[in-house]
Amino acid sequence: MPEGKGLRRNVAHYGDAEFAAYLRKAFIKAMGYTDEALERPVIGIVDTGSGFNACHRNMPDLIEAASRGVMLAGAIPVPFPVISLQESFAHPSTMYLRNLMAMDAEEMIRAQPMDAVILIGGCDKTVPALLMGAASADIPAIMLVTGPMMAGSWRGERLGACTDCRRFWGRFRAGELDAGQIAEVSDNLAPTIGTCGVMGTASTMALAVEAMGMMLPGGACAPAVSSERRRIAELTGTRAVEIAREGLKPSDIMTVPAFENAFRTVMAAGGSTNAIIHLTAMAGRLGIKVSLETVDRISRETPVLVDLKPSGRGYMEDLHRAGGLTPILHALRGLMKTDALTITGRTLGDNIDAAPPAWPQDVVRGTDDPVVAGESMVVLGGNLAPGGALLKTAAASPALLKHRGRAVVFDSLADMAERIDSPDLDVNPDDILVLKNAGPIGAPGMPEAGYIPIPKKLAQQGVKDMVRISDARMSGTAFGTIVLHITPEAAAGGPLQAVRSGDIIALDAAARSLLLEVAPEEIAFRLAQTQPCEKALYGYARLYRQSIRQADEGCDFDFCIPPVRDCL
Ligand code: FES
Ligand code: MG
Repeated sequence: MPEGKGLRRNVAHYGDAEFAAYLRKAFIKAMGYTDEALERPVIGIVDTGSGFNACHRNMPDLIEAASRGVMLAGAIPVPFPVISLQESFAHPSTMYLRNLMAMDAEEMIRAQPMDAVILIGGCDKTVPALLMGAASADIPAIMLVTGPMMAGSWRGERLGACTDCRRFWGRFRAGELDAGQIAEVSDNLAPTIGTCGVMGTASTMALAVEAMGMMLPGGACAPAVSSERRRIAELTGTRAVEIAREGLKPSDIMTVPAFENAFRTVMAAGGSTNAIIHLTAMAGRLGIKVSLETVDRISRETPVLVDLKPSGRGYMEDLHRAGGLTPILHALRGLMKTDALTITGRTLGDNIDAAPPAWPQDVVRGTDDPVVAGESMVVLGGNLAPGGALLKTAAASPALLKHRGRAVVFDSLADMAERIDSPDLDVNPDDILVLKNAGPIGAPGMPEAGYIPIPKKLAQQGVKDMVRISDARMSGTAFGTIVLHITPEAAAGGPLQAVRSGDIIALDAAARSLLLEVAPEEIAFRLAQTQPCEKALYGYARLYRQSIRQADEGCDFDFCIPPVRDCL
């Protein structure tokens, strides 16, 4: 019995290909398909909906709309599940599980017979995970995001998850809001389904992926609850059928110039530091090595143009009204690699030409009038971060970008939780808060703990920002003078492990340096004294511990990364 014309041929069989096809057809026909339907191309649709994931709550609608688009183009849509990750509901962190989701996506795309796949994600880790998996499987694939939530309001003030979550929590900790007021705020922080409404990781990745060319033009910003989001889903379904016929694969699109466009978009957006890790991991799946020097160079060249929180003022609904990615691309055109191929089958330059012209608006600025004139983030080196560290200067206090102070050290997340609010904590506003053992191995899973809270007694005195350093990550929605991703991390024997309370640390963002003012012999002596804590691990925890790479390599698993064949 012949395989359906549309069905991929590289699917499992057990020695007798005809028997396997006959059996497979019998089972798929149990779903009620006719032979005529099964003659058509099959478009897989990744379903990452979950009762724990409000960011993906519109998944049924998007699958319906994408399926309609697939059928309008003459193919058959087949949804299938992949792990869902929501930032607030994944212990110990979503980063710990991102690679598991990537492996799930990769193997399910590879295992099941489909001619192309529509990847539907949205919440922070889901977009990179799906694209990492799709890049490794490398069959025609197109990204669709669930879209951002709308902004809320509390007593006349606009709110958006989760920059304002932190701002109001800071006010609550400082005693400016009472329990009843903070409860009212929490009713309004996430007033609709969809991804966080500021320039957090989800929004940053959506823009970066549109700029990279793996999403239809205009696909990044339409709100989750809008009719436009559903129309984008329908168009994505139709385009998925065309890329199946054209054989347009992730490896054709996710090239060095495409990644450069993605990184540049992150910088212009004042985007999340997490995007640096995710884009590095995605590039790694294609054999592209991203150097932190290049990231720093792109950042230096690119002013922050998008006036959204946490670097600026607005919310994603404002960026959508301003035209989404389009005005950013118009402003950046001279800096972009316009020859990069995109999912439309045309180049980025062609897509920009076909896009509506920019109209008057006050969310996306011109390069002559940026939100932040300097760079969005800097890559630090120095003896405390020999493998690099990141500081999002756009969300930092300018006065603290060059600062020398006394270290107040927390050895772990538990230690920090226990002591940070103690009235006995020996801490002054000029000190530098240091958190260790919160990196990829340490926590494990590199949680977003880099946003170390201001110790309560200082918060109550009105202290809003301090220099804080760690091997952790930070939510893209957070702000402050916060050094992140210190590499190698403390748990991997990095110099961060040697820092003791009372040591002097010097940060100089302009000089790209983070220095521990302790003699090299003393640092080596202290590190030699540290006993690595080895405990027996089983299952995924063991796989993770054995295989996780550091932040500068995207925190991917070593066995998922093919040999380097290109560099950015
Ligand atoms: Fe899902 Fe913020 S929690 S995007
Ligand atoms: Mg986030």
